[in-house]
Amino acid sequence: MLPLIAVAARLAQFSAALILFGAPLFFIYGLPAKGAAAAASLRWPRPLFLGAAIVLLLGAWAALCAQTGIMTDAVGDALKPDVVASVVTGTQFGLITALRGGLAILAGLTLWLVRPGRGLWIALAGSGGVILASFAWSGHGAADEGPGGLLHLVADMIHLWAAGVWIGALAVLALLLAAARRQPDPVALRALHRGLEGFSGVGTAVVAALIATGLVNSWFLIGPSHLLALFSALYGLLLIAKLIVFAGMLALAAANRFQLTPRLASALESGGSAEAIGALQRSVAIECLAALAVIALVSMLGTIAPLSAVS
Ligand code: HEM
Repeated sequence: MLPLIAVAARLAQFSAALILFGAPLFFIYGLPAKGAAAAASLRWPRPLFLGAAIVLLLGAWAALCAQTGIMTDAVGDALKPDVVASVVTGTQFGLITALRGGLAILAGLTLWLVRPGRGLWIALAGSGGVILASFAWSGHGAADEGPGGLLHLVADMIHLWAAGVWIGALAVLALLLAAARRQPDPVALRALHRGLEGFSGVGTAVVAALIATGLVNSWFLIGPSHLLALFSALYGLLLIAKLIVFAGMLALAAANRFQLTPRLASALESGGSAEAIGALQRSVAIECLAALAVIALVSMLGTIAPLSAVS
């Protein structure tokens, strides 16, 4: 039971952190800074970020409890404050996870104290970036020593940030498309199209960064001498499943960029955008589900011994 809670706690923390970093960042580069289509004029960002901060805090707490029970091999210890505290003070995982919980509270306070606008988005993206990077220290990213260890750690942080840019933007586009479907306001539609184009430009760099840092991760966590075990060990099969889903996300992203977004542009010219919005909404919704599957797979991967650790 505890290993399952550990995986669920990673999934909750990853999902919340990817949104806390990538969504405010998208508001800065993908939407107008001022006016009716600016993120500051929308009603849903604050509840979305507050929800993400609460999910992150609960996920961090559940991760600490599950890890305590797993380490002491006693389920009962999972909820004993003194035993959990010893995991916080006595392990790197515990300390980093507790700090992440603290950053979730800080993000919640920032949301409460700062008015929606560029300043808030920068503050949230900043704390979201630190929260995302912290996973490198509490997972397999910190598994190696020496100069190789530093390369692995930095690559894993870039991997997490690139994942955040993609998935944060995807969450915002899904919400903007749902609003455009309900109320096809011309100003909002133009901003949506601009946002889609804005992400296309960033998208190529994100995919390149994910593949490059994913290969670095794979080098350290699998390694050339364990390549054949990819097809027989659980860790290898989960990673292969992740790459298959990633390929599906790439295909959807390419269709959005080269077919559906240009189709929306011409529909906006001709005034009949409902069908184009519907097609984009379906594609982005499927891409969101695929992204959730990728996060679920890495939530499991991080709790299993990597192939490089298995002799
Ligand atoms: C949509 C694309 C992708 C997303 C959202 C994504 C996301 C993530 C996340 C959140 C982690 C966890 C990092 C940690 O716990 O420190 C991770 C780990 C990893 N990723 Fe990716 N990734 C993507 C694509 C790739 C690609 C293309 C590769 C390979 C070329 C790759 C290989 C890996 C490996 C080997 C790990 C380490 C797993 C572990 O903790 O043991 N990823 N990824």
